[in-house]
Amino acid sequence: MALLEIKKYPEKVLKEKTTLVEDIDVHIQRLIDNMIETMYAARGVGLAANQVGVSKRVCVIDVSAVEEEKKPLIVLINPTIIEKEGSEKTEEGCLSLPGYTTMLNRAEKVHVQGLDRNGNPIDIEGTGMLSRALQHEIDHLDGLLIIDRISPIKREFFKRRLNKSKKLKASKK
Ligand code: NI
Repeated sequence: MALLEIKKYPEKVLKEKTTLVEDIDVHIQRLIDNMIETMYAARGVGLAANQVGVSKRVCVIDVSAVEEEKKPLIVLINPTIIEKEGSEKTEEGCLSLPGYTTMLNRAEKVHVQGLDRNGNPIDIEGTGMLSRALQHEIDHLDGLLIIDRISPIKREFFKRRLNKSKKLKASKK
C-alpha cells in the first residue's frame, strides 16, 4: 500500500464530476487500499477518489474517529443518494481545504445505494456524522466542495483569505 497525495483546492480534478466505475479491477482495488491508508494517515473521516487525483466514482468513509464507538469502514463504488430527510447545521471541514471550516446545512438523514468493493449492492441509511460524511463525499464525486455550498458572500471572504495567504507565502520566498 502507499500513501497518496491529497489534492488541494483549487486543483481542477476536484471541480470535475467523476466517472462511473465499470469494472472493479485490480487497479480499483489498489486505489481503494491506498485511499483507506491515506484517509487514516490524514485523520479524515472520508476520502473521495478525485481528492487523490483519480476521477472515478469511489469513496471511503470511517466515522470512528469522531464517534464514541467503533464504526465500520465503508467502501462505496458508484454511490447515489436516493432519499434525503430533515435538515441539520453543523461545522464541516475538508482535507482538500486545510485549515478551513464552515457551518453547513445538510440533510439529517440520507439513504445511499451503491456497490461495495466486491461489486455487491449496498444500501446505507445514515444519520448524524455518517449522514454528513456520505453527503460530503458524494458531493466530492460530483465535483462539489464545501465552499460550493456556502453563501456567495462567505465564498468571497474565503477567496480573499486564500489570496492573502498566497501573497504572504510568495513574499516569504
Ligand atoms: Ni472533503
